[in-house]
Amino acid sequence: MDNTAIIYLDNAATSYPKPSGCMQRALDRYLQLGASPSRGGYDLAREAEAAVSEVRHALHRFFGADAQYPLCFGSNATDALNTLIQGLTEPGDHVVSTCLEHNSVLRPLHHLRAQGRIEFDLAGFDTNGFVDPDDVAALIRPHTRLVIINHASNVLGTVQPVAAIGEICRNTGVPLILDVSQSAGVIPIEMKKWHVSGLAFTGHKSLLGPSGIGGLIIHPDLPIRPTRFGGTGIDSASLFHTQTFPYRLEAGTLNLLGILALGESLSYLQELETQGYRQREMALTEKLRDGLFEIDGIDLYAAQSLENHLPLIACNVRGHVAADVGAILDGDFNIAVRAGLHCAPLVHERLGTAPNGAIRFSPGVFNRKAHIDAAVSALSIIARNA
Ligand SMILES: Cc1ncc(COP(=O)(O)O)c(C=O)c1O
Repeated sequence: MDNTAIIYLDNAATSYPKPSGCMQRALDRYLQLGASPSRGGYDLAREAEAAVSEVRHALHRFFGADAQYPLCFGSNATDALNTLIQGLTEPGDHVVSTCLEHNSVLRPLHHLRAQGRIEFDLAGFDTNGFVDPDDVAALIRPHTRLVIINHASNVLGTVQPVAAIGEICRNTGVPLILDVSQSAGVIPIEMKKWHVSGLAFTGHKSLLGPSGIGGLIIHPDLPIRPTRFGGTGIDSASLFHTQTFPYRLEAGTLNLLGILALGESLSYLQELETQGYRQREMALTEKLRDGLFEIDGIDLYAAQSLENHLPLIACNVRGHVAADVGAILDGDFNIAVRAGLHCAPLVHERLGTAPNGAIRFSPGVFNRKAHIDAAVSALSIIARNA
């Protein structure tokens, strides 16, 4: 299939295209040293382990953590969030989170509550799409074990005031868990400075890596239990899982190819940053917002101001179901967007857009002005025919 004609505006789902140079370099390196990291006493395995360590250190720097913070690789943010939520809560605990969360937080919380293990409360958000740190503080109880916040909404694009929430968590002694799935690669993240105790990331969105690689970083004092058990390459005589990091939360053989590719894309992101690609991405988003704003019959959500905002615009065409607009954009205009609930049903409930959801445009570093013009023109045609 020829994908060159597609106008891809669904980078919040996964970034596309992937930087081919990064992928090729990672593949070359993988083919050269594809032994199992930390699973052998020979040079090749040691080299593979060293390559993985390099990427761990690059991620520490990238997220404003330091080398003492355990960094454990997994398959994506969903995997990391499940590990954090299930590995940190005890029966009887209370958790505070928000209505902005993705199902990768909401579902573990609901399952644990249904099993009678935890209780939780969710803070709302204002009409501009921001959580008020005071609302989070008001929900904290004596037995609150965790606060979990989505750094940047995958529906509204709003970036939450994490430094202020981190300060509250520090003062109350409740660990703060941050989901940086959408913000990583777009906004600088300062784990230590913001008093974040646990951070979950995914490699395939704005970090520009492949799917299937992600992970978590935690404060060295966070008392987390492993939630899966198996081979680690160390302490093998014990029939119980090792407590040593990072293996405590890394059961089984690592995704070496994914880790190498993520390492390559982290370096590439720095190049893009220097070349002003991120500003360009935001300028395209502003152009899109302004263009959509001019069309009669379009409702825009939380896009009045693009300050503290991702390159992402959600909207609806009055008189049309979001999924139908998505299908027309795809079928008639070859424009790829995400229509529906974006795995964040509570956002749409509060917005009044449930059960159909909205259309989400999410430009990426490889979009151009012509793509935005095409999207605006397509929506104006659809709105005219509503
Ligand atoms: C805010 C947020 N959290 C978590 C996830 C889950 O990411 P993954 O599917 O890579 O685990 C997503 C993906 O859409 C997201 O947008």
